[in-house]
Amino acid sequence: YTIAADKVKAQISPNMYGIFFEDINLAADGGVYAELVKNRSFEFNMPLMGWDEQKKDGGDGRVEVINRAADRPENAHFIKVYIDSAGGSFGLSNEGFRGMGIKEGEEYSFSVMAKQEGEQNVKLNIELHDDKNAIIGKAELTPTDKEWNRYSVKFKATATVQKAQLYVWMSGKGIIDMDMVSLFPEHTWKNRPGGLRADLVQKLADMKPGFLRFPGGCIVEGRELNTRYQWKKTIGAVDQRTNIINRWNTEFSHRPTPDYYQTFGLGFMEYFMTAEDIGASPLPILNCGMACEFNTGELVPMDKLDPYIQDALDLIEFANGDVNTKWGKLRTDLGHPAPFHLKMLGVGNEQWGPQYIERWKAFTKAIKGKYPDVKIVSAVGPFPGGKEFDLLNKTFRALGADILDEHYYASPKWFLEHAKRYDNYDRKGPKIFAGEYAAQNVVTGSPKNKNTWECALAEAAFMTGLERNADVVRMASYAPLFAHVEGWQWTPDLIWFDNLNSYGSPNYYVQQLFSLNKGTDVVPLLLNNEAVAGQDGCFATASLDKNTNGLVIKFINSTASAKSTSFKITGSKGYQKQASVITLRSNDKDAVNSLETPTAISPKNSTVNVSGNTLKLDVEPYTFKIVRLKNK
Ligand code: AHR
Repeated sequence: YTIAADKVKAQISPNMYGIFFEDINLAADGGVYAELVKNRSFEFNMPLMGWDEQKKDGGDGRVEVINRAADRPENAHFIKVYIDSAGGSFGLSNEGFRGMGIKEGEEYSFSVMAKQEGEQNVKLNIELHDDKNAIIGKAELTPTDKEWNRYSVKFKATATVQKAQLYVWMSGKGIIDMDMVSLFPEHTWKNRPGGLRADLVQKLADMKPGFLRFPGGCIVEGRELNTRYQWKKTIGAVDQRTNIINRWNTEFSHRPTPDYYQTFGLGFMEYFMTAEDIGASPLPILNCGMACEFNTGELVPMDKLDPYIQDALDLIEFANGDVNTKWGKLRTDLGHPAPFHLKMLGVGNEQWGPQYIERWKAFTKAIKGKYPDVKIVSAVGPFPGGKEFDLLNKTFRALGADILDEHYYASPKWFLEHAKRYDNYDRKGPKIFAGEYAAQNVVTGSPKNKNTWECALAEAAFMTGLERNADVVRMASYAPLFAHVEGWQWTPDLIWFDNLNSYGSPNYYVQQLFSLNKGTDVVPLLLNNEAVAGQDGCFATASLDKNTNGLVIKFINSTASAKSTSFKITGSKGYQKQASVITLRSNDKDAVNSLETPTAISPKNSTVNVSGNTLKLDVEPYTFKIVRLKNK
C-alpha cells in the first residue's frame, strides 16, 4: 500500500461523526430521561395504566380520574383520591418502565403536584419496594394547601434493585388531588434536577460526537399530523408539555408496547443543552407537513403549511436569537442566555414524492429568505436502491439543495460492496449526510437482527468510503441509538441498557473509534493506484491529523485469513519510531457484546515499530485496526 502524506484530497468535517437520537426502544421515556414513574400525569389513553390500587391494615379509598381539558388542554388529567382509612392506608403503586432501577446509597427525589380537598390533610407515605416487596427506601410528605402546589421529599435507597416499584400510601380521612407524581434519582447527568441518566449520556460524550441529530426519525413525522413532533410543546415547565402517544407505541413494533408515550421531559431545550454539553452541533429535524408514510401519510394542505414553516423560523430564533427577539428571550428566560449556534436544520424525515418537493420548496424559500446561512438537510427517502431515493437525489441536485440525508439499512454484504459509493459522486452538487445506517444481519426490520461483529466490521469498511470522500460526505450517524433490553421495537441498536446498566455494541466502538481518530485531512491510501475498497477483502483510509501532528491509518480486514501489510509513506519528513495501534476484533463474526460481557469486543491498545517511512502491520482475521503515527 502507498500513502502520499503530502497530497491532501479532502478536509474532514469537524462534525463528521455524530449521533442520531430518536425516542424509539424506550430511548427517552424509560431510558435516558431519568424519570422513574410511568404515566406520571395520567395522560395515557388508559389514564391509570402503570398504576395499581393498594390497601393495607384495613385502609380503603377510591380513585377518580378527572378531566379538566377545557382549562388545561396540555395536561388534561389528574386524580382525585378519596381516603377512608381509619388506622390503615390506601395507596397507589407505580410499576415504572419495566420496573425502576434503584441504586443503594443514592438519593431519590419524590415530588407531586397536590391539592387537599377535604377537612383533614391526607398524609403521604412514600415507599420503594424491591421485587420481593421489601421496603428499600421511604419518606413522608403532607401536602398542606387547598390550591395546587408542588411538594417534594428526598430519601436514600438501601439496596440496589433492577425492578423496584413506587408505593404512595395515603392515610387519614380526606380527599386529595394529585398530578405529576414523579421520582428521580438525584444523581443525573450534570446533576440537573429532573435530568438525564448519567451513564447513558456519558456514553454519548465518550464518542466526542460532531453533531446531535434530534428528535428522530419517524417520530418527527408522527402517525398522523396531530401526533407529529412539535418542538414548542416540549419546552418550559414539564407539567405544561403536552404528552402524546409514541409513534412506536405498538404498530411496527416487534414487541407490543401499548405503554409507550412521550412526556417530552426530554424536550428541545434539553436536546440543545445536551448537544452543547457533549460538544456536538445541534441538528434538529422538523416535520414538513407530512405524517409518516408507513402510517397514515397524512398531508397538510399547502394553504395550511404556514404554521409548520413558522415553527422552523421560530426554532432558529429560539436557538440563535438574542434577548431582544421573542424566542431568544424565551430561551434566556429558560436559563440559557447564550445562543445554541444552530447552523443546520432538517426539513422532513424519509419523505418523498412531489408532495415533499412542494412543501420543501416553501420551507426552503422562507428559511433561506430569513436565515441564508442556515444549511437545510433534505430527506431523500429510506433504503438504498429504492427508486424514490434516486429520483429525489436527482431532483434535489437540480434544486441546489445543501445537504441530502441518506439512510441505509442493509446487509453486511451491501455495506462491504458499497464502500466505493461516493468515489465517483458529483462533487458540485449537495453534500451528503449519511443520517441513518446500520448493517442488518438477518434482514431489515427482523426482530432477530443482532449487533454482531460482522455487522460492525462491515460498517467500519463502509465508513472508510465515507471518510475517503470527506469532501462530499460531511456527516454520518448510526441508527437507532438506544434500546432498552426489555422495551425495544427495532434492532440492531448502538447502545443497549436495562434499568441500571448499559453497554456499547461492537458497532458503538466502531463509531467511537472513527470519531476519536478521524484526523483532519484525507490523503490517498492506494493499492496499485486504486482506493482500498474491497481488494482481497480489505478496506482502508488515511488522514493527516493536524491537531496532533500525525498520520492516522484505518484498516479493515473483513476476511477469515490474516494479512501481512506494508505501507510505504511518501511526502513526509518521517515518523517517530513507535506508532500506537488500536485493535477492535473478534475471531467470531457472530460475537456480540451484552450486559454480562459489555466489553467482549472493545478497543485494545498496542504499539508497532515504524522503520523510516515504511510501516509493516500484521492484521488478524476479522479485524479493524487504527495506527496513529507521529511526525518527527
Ligand atoms: O431508525 C429507525 C427508523 O428508521 C427511523 O425512525 C426512520 O427514519 C427509519 O426508517
